[in-house]
Amino acid sequence: MLNISTSGIVRTVLISSFVTALVAGTGGAYVMLHHRAVQQTAAEAGRMLSIATAVRGYTDQQITPMLRNDDKVFHPETVPAFAAQSVYRGMAAMHPGYTYREPAMKPTNLEDLPTPFEVELLDKFRADAQLKELAGVRQGAKGNVYYLARPIRAQESCLVCHDTSQRAPAAMVAKYGPFNGFGWRLNEVVALQSLTIPAAEELRQTGEIALMLAGGLLLVFVATYFALALAIESLVVRPLHALEQAAEAASLGTGGAPLPASGAREIRSIAAAIERLRISLAKAMKRPGDAPGRP
Ligand code: HEC
Repeated sequence: MLNISTSGIVRTVLISSFVTALVAGTGGAYVMLHHRAVQQTAAEAGRMLSIATAVRGYTDQQITPMLRNDDKVFHPETVPAFAAQSVYRGMAAMHPGYTYREPAMKPTNLEDLPTPFEVELLDKFRADAQLKELAGVRQGAKGNVYYLARPIRAQESCLVCHDTSQRAPAAMVAKYGPFNGFGWRLNEVVALQSLTIPAAEELRQTGEIALMLAGGLLLVFVATYFALALAIESLVVRPLHALEQAAEAASLGTGGAPLPASGAREIRSIAAAIERLRISLAKAMKRPGDAPGRP
């Protein structure tokens, strides 16, 4: 038979349900909040990258045609990649953690050489033509960042400058040299739009909210635990103990032990039943003494 007291059972049940609630509740909330934070960051990254694409488009369609024929001086301002990256350098100066780059396999400007991580992304895009974007959270120099990358494919208009050094404007070759940024092929993934935005703050907040939730649950649990323990002690355990002693005393014929007048209704009824039992027991015990009086 299970040799465990009422308060022991209550304690075990309460603690195990609490631990389950804490793990499931806080864990579930953390997963949901984390997912939401990543989704929000992803949406922001998508919008930020669209701005870069818009700057590229604007430069390509409105600025490049105006200056392309000037072959004495080359103006990098007419280059979409230069315009988009310059705009984001300004943005990054105001909002640290935001970066935008257009690293290329064979870059014109050696500052656009891809990092090992960007080489990995480029390889994935080059291996899978259906892949439209790659995104995720990764460790940056200043904490976690959310990265979003899309492939840049060479179009016909790009090859004017990125095909061969003979075909490119002489002023451009004079400025960048005849070796860099050439040999790109039509429709080939030649570079990336690579954006990072800070994610550490959102993720930290998620952890904080989950911790606060765990703290709140713990508080509610402790209060519930003590309230229940107190109620069970005064309504069940103590009256039961008194009952036990009274029944014990009655059975030994020593009598006298008071029956509990308080406690849960069921206990009071047992007390009343034991009281009746005690009275009838006392009467039954007296009867043999009465016998001589009988005719
Ligand atoms: C007028 C010549 C010209 C045209 C047209 C041109 N580019 Fe470039 N591109 C350059 C130059 C010059 C740079 C280097 C700019 C710098 O100093 O950052 C460059 C840089 C880039 C970069 C950054 C990596 C690197 O090579 O340094 C990418 C990506 C790029 N171009 C893609 C394209 C695409 C895609 C097109 C067509 C939509 C295009 N370019 C059209 C001249 C051109």
